[in-house]
Amino acid sequence: MTNEELKQEILRLKREKNAVILGHYYQRHEIQELSDYVGDSLALAQEAQRTEADIIVFCGVHFMAETAKILNPQRKVLLPDMEASCSLAESCKADEFAAFKAQHPDHMVISYVNCSAEIKALSDLICTSGNAEKLVRSLPEDQKIIFAPDRNLGGYINQVTGRQMVLWNGVCTVHDAMQAEAVMQLKVEYPDAPVVAHPECNPALLEVADFVGSTKAMLTYIKQSDARRFIVATETGILYEMRRENPGKEFITLRDNKSCACDDCAYMKLNTLDKLYRCLRDEQPEIRMDADMIERAKRPIVRMLEMSRQLGIIK
Ligand code: 13P
Ligand code: SF4
Repeated sequence: MTNEELKQEILRLKREKNAVILGHYYQRHEIQELSDYVGDSLALAQEAQRTEADIIVFCGVHFMAETAKILNPQRKVLLPDMEASCSLAESCKADEFAAFKAQHPDHMVISYVNCSAEIKALSDLICTSGNAEKLVRSLPEDQKIIFAPDRNLGGYINQVTGRQMVLWNGVCTVHDAMQAEAVMQLKVEYPDAPVVAHPECNPALLEVADFVGSTKAMLTYIKQSDARRFIVATETGILYEMRRENPGKEFITLRDNKSCACDDCAYMKLNTLDKLYRCLRDEQPEIRMDADMIERAKRPIVRMLEMSRQLGIIK
């Protein structure tokens, strides 16, 4: 089938089966184009919670589809490629994390949503890059906290809030590999272009960024800025939405600095139009979880959504 035929078939199957397609900003542009909702992890979790579709096709990575299943267990949740993992989730295994947690018995556990359901079940509160700073700030000053699994996001929150959260030593291999030197060279070439970066980037890179935020926050910053061009330190999939929302603006990626071609997430790119079509047609691969795990992982996610609403981060 041609891409056009695949698109038509996907739309037909979606209608026929009362399915909704949720897509992350890092997905291939042709998948974002077909998605009913495109968003950051926080918005997609909200959408997964409130959808009444019979089938949720999650075009993102495994932890995101798993979160959708946890929040809406009566729906069938499909992920076009089950291998679409995440280096942060991989970096934090439940048995090792349980031992780490046991070493800090008086600490509360905040886990970044980029982790497995097992880690969520061991956590008191989940956060995303879109709410992490505000959630942490809302906790009592003397609250001791373990933050997992991203040491870069955790370190950034420590820096901006003055907290001393104990950090699990995990990274997003895509963002961590982006080099501050490459950004500095681009800054020399494009001195008028603000640098936007995702907080999963390493501390040296975040140091030279003009704006640090989640995928959605970066999009909002760019839309509201008077600048005409931007240096973008995050996964390239987001360029589709950046260009769509800002036709007159120019986006420079680390790829434009020849020394760095590190800005594609291989996991995110595993989902293709063809896999999306087969997944809708065959209603698999499906996310399956046992009820007990859903129950235990749900508590800290629901707490995150409730706190985010109370703090005015989401509606
Ligand atoms: P956002 O929540 O900012 O969309 O980030 C998800 C992610 O996986 C970043 O690498
Ligand atoms: Fe995970 Fe990094 Fe890919 Fe995001 S970009 S899904 S954090 S590996």
